[in-house]
Parts: sequence; structure tokens; C-alpha cells
Amino acid sequence: MNQPLRQQHDQRFSDLIRTRTGIQLPVHRRQMIESRLRPRIAALGAKGFDGYLAQLFDHGRLEEELPLVIDLLTTNKTDFFRESSHFDFLSREILPEAIRRASPHAPRLKIWSAASSEGAEAYTTAIVLAEAQRAGKRFSYAILGTDISQRMLERAQRAIYSQEQLSPVPAEFRARYTMQGRAPAHAGTARIVPELRDRVQFMHLNLMDSSYPVDRDVDVIFLRNVLIYFGPEDQAAVVSRMVSHLRPGGHLIVGHSESMVVSHPHMTQHSPSIFRKT
Ligand SMILES: C[S@@+](CC[C@H](N)C(=O)[O-])C[C@H]1O[C@@H](n2cnc3c(N)ncnc32)[C@H](O)[C@@H]1O
Repeated sequence: MNQPLRQQHDQRFSDLIRTRTGIQLPVHRRQMIESRLRPRIAALGAKGFDGYLAQLFDHGRLEEELPLVIDLLTTNKTDFFRESSHFDFLSREILPEAIRRASPHAPRLKIWSAASSEGAEAYTTAIVLAEAQRAGKRFSYAILGTDISQRMLERAQRAIYSQEQLSPVPAEFRARYTMQGRAPAHAGTARIVPELRDRVQFMHLNLMDSSYPVDRDVDVIFLRNVLIYFGPEDQAAVVSRMVSHLRPGGHLIVGHSESMVVSHPHMTQHSPSIFRKT
């Protein structure tokens, strides 16, 4: 049971993750793989890593088990109002311009959080847009969140967060857009209000797929803190597919450390991590 993770195991798990998700696990990954998979191996009663690999590859359990392996070996770190200058740009630049362009009608913005994890990015966007509506701006919006992790998508759909997770949300917005958990099981948590949940939909999507079942006139795509995990070819292919889902004039927003990744003939760089489709 306590058989250690050997190099050939480590390689097979990292090849599996790379071919199915595009994620290149770090070079010093063995300890991470070992600690994250060991509880699963124990729960299955498999005979160590050899037994687990045999179940996956020799006994036909791979497809059934894969979502769990992906959940265990991927990084889902996210935060409300993460890299908050992007949300300032949304409310101060993108939104007023969309309103001017659609005048005298009210525009309908389509926003896509393309590696949404447990939903903080999508709900932050909803909070920012709801605030703009409160301030009298006339528009409607729909937000799509997609991710490869079923576990994260379930959490995003539930929209229940701990007070610690919600701590980056200004107190005024927390009071307006979340509801405190009352049942003992939900003590110390709060749920995003239904008015915002109704505007956000979540769907499973693997960025490695050759096409995406998403509209092709999206106004803003958040593709943040996911490209860094991919190799250069996958990065370019994902960016190219994303661009094909933006309307002309639409924006692609990547993480602050990912600006070098976006190089595309139809995209101009507005600021280090914000790009616009020509
Ligand atoms: C570090 S989180 C970033 C979350 C959010 N965008 C942010 O910036 O806070 C990366 C997310 O990308 C997702 N992911 C990784 N590979 C993916 C793929 N091939 N397709 C879709 N999502 C993927 C992971 O499941 C994880 O939730």
C-alpha cells in the first residue's frame, strides 16, 4: 500500500495529464503527485501506484477515473477580485464603450470566464456589472463560466463560499450580493444572491478540444492563470480558438504573468494583459 511513487509512475501520470488537459506538471512533481493521489489509492484499496495504474490502463477504468485524477492533479487557485485592475477596466472602459456603441439601445454583454475554477472570477464580474446597473447604466449581460474540473464546476454552481474566500469582496458588496448561511451546516459561509446566480451559467469545457460550443460574438473573455500551465503549442492553439469566439472589438484578458503568450495577427495589445480583437 505504501509503495513509493517511482519515476515511471510519475511519468505516466504527468503524460496522462499533459495529453488530456495540456497541463505540464512541474519538473519537481513527484512529491505532489504522490501526496495528492495516495488517499485515492487507499480509498480504492489498490495495491500502491502499480495497482492504481493497472486499474486505469489495463482494467479499463481510465475514462471513469480520469475526472478525479484531473481534479487531484490540477491547480484551481482563484480569488474574488483577483488582479482587480481587470475589473476596473471592464467597468471604466469596456462597458461605457459598449453602451456608446449600442446607443440608443441598451447593449447585451457576453462575458466568458474560460477557466473559471470555483466561480470567483465569474461572480466578481457579475458583482461589478450589477454595481454599474445600480449606478444607472443601461445594459444587460450574461456570463458563461467553463472549466475542465467537474468538482470546481459543482462548487461554482452552488456558489457557497467561506468568509475567508469572500474576504477580498468589499464589505458593501458582500452585504448586497451574498446571503449568510443560517443552517448550522452552512455557518461561516455565504451564498451569492439568486439575482446574480441567474446571470451566470457554468459548463464543462476542455480548452484542449479542437472547437468550443460557445457563441462567436463574445465581448470579453477572461482566460487568466491557465495558459501558464500549457506548452507553447497548446498556448498558441488555445489563444487562436479564443480569438475566434470574440466579436471584432472584443477583449481577451489574460493573467498578469501571461502577457507574452498572446501573439495573434487579429489582436492588438491594449495593456500588458489586455488584448483587443481588430
Ligand atoms: C489557477 S486556476 C485559475 C482560475 C481563474 N481563471 C483565476 O485566474 O483565478 C486554473 C483553472 O484552469 C482549469 N484548467 C486547467 N486546464 C484546463 C483545460 N485544459 N481546460 C479547461 N480548464 C482547465 C483548472 O481546472 C483550474 O480551475
